[in-house]
Amino acid sequence: MSPQQGEPSPLAGKRIVLGVTGGIAAYKAIEISRRLVDAGAHVVPIMTEAAQHFVGTTTLSALASEPVQTELWHNPTTPIPHTEVGQGADLIIVAPATAKAIAAYRMGYSHDLLQNTLIATRAPVIVCPAMHTEMWEHPSVVDNIAVLRERGVHIVDPESGRLAGGDVGAGRLASPESVVAAAERVLGSRDLAGTTVIVSAGGTREPIDSVRVIANRSSGKQGYAVAAEAASRGALVTLVSTVTLPVPSGVEIVAVETAAEMQEAIESRSASTDVIVMAAAVADFRPVSVADHKLKKRDGAPQIVLESTPDILAGLGAAKPAGQVLVGFAAETNDLVANAQSKLERKHLDLIVANDVGAPSVGFAHDTNAVTLLRPDAEPVEIDLAAKRDVARAVINTIVEIRAAAEIETQTGKI
Ligand code: C5P
Repeated sequence: MSPQQGEPSPLAGKRIVLGVTGGIAAYKAIEISRRLVDAGAHVVPIMTEAAQHFVGTTTLSALASEPVQTELWHNPTTPIPHTEVGQGADLIIVAPATAKAIAAYRMGYSHDLLQNTLIATRAPVIVCPAMHTEMWEHPSVVDNIAVLRERGVHIVDPESGRLAGGDVGAGRLASPESVVAAAERVLGSRDLAGTTVIVSAGGTREPIDSVRVIANRSSGKQGYAVAAEAASRGALVTLVSTVTLPVPSGVEIVAVETAAEMQEAIESRSASTDVIVMAAAVADFRPVSVADHKLKKRDGAPQIVLESTPDILAGLGAAKPAGQVLVGFAAETNDLVANAQSKLERKHLDLIVANDVGAPSVGFAHDTNAVTLLRPDAEPVEIDLAAKRDVARAVINTIVEIRAAAEIETQTGKI
């Protein structure tokens, strides 16, 4: 979405590093740079050695906001180029990004100034791949792109069209207009600034004895992606988690194991929280009594008596403070929408994210997910198979919409 006419561009005053790597599409980086400068950004250009075979540094220097940097060693601009450029950036765009640059970034292989800049930054990164169709569709590239997406890197997919050498297919660098629009989206979306968010993630583990647990297959990846997306949009995020994945930057982690611990961690914070996303797979049953020692095999198979765990989400729904947005997840294997819809109503939720965990590549442990978003008074929205981070983005977009609608209602005195 481009900003409305009259609104300042979200790029105005922003320091944007434009990394240009060695593909034929490097010439289009000149136009991207010009458009960013026109929008009021300060463009810091970096070219790899290979990029210089395609366009001259003079051209890009003339159309960016400062001379092109190419050198890790003997860099005339700064004595510590490997960190300084990345630390000072509000956004980094790599356009075009070759298969080699994408692979190096995935690995953190910091052999040149651009790769050092990419791993010495906390700024958002947009990668705009451009290569021949065979390369774009090669499993190594597909895998590298999937990993970058999962980490929250914004990928501007290449278009289909004429490629170098007369070939036609997918792999052509996205248009300068699309690249700049992506930059506007990324820098414009601080739409959760100051909002407090709790996300639960992972499956709970309910002890049987001092070593055994009843667990489930949840990996926590979707919850972590939601936490990372919310944090990147300015929210103050607490992640209540049963798993040990890398903690997204800026997120506070609270480690728990059982449903009871998760309940305590969330309920003690819930009254002062704007948004709660229960992405965790909380056990529905737990052993009534827990042996304080390891049950012995020689004593025979134990009779384990189970009791229900507290339904954390239902409890939160019943005690929901005005203005709080409550989101649940529903992992179903049949009657997905009907079951999720009934949960939405029963637990007084504002949104439920339903996933059919029986479908291929969907749900537990996968890096991808396909979900249906259900709200009380809106048509269901289907999100087709996508990286969990992209699904997280759709969930957060919907939460932002719900908060905006509630704000309008408050202002017009409807509630
Ligand atoms: O009813 P069901 O367990 O399928 O609902 C799933 C949703 O409820 C998830 O968001 C999950 O985190 C939450 N839940 C809960 N406490 C439970 C069981 C599930 O908060 N004991």
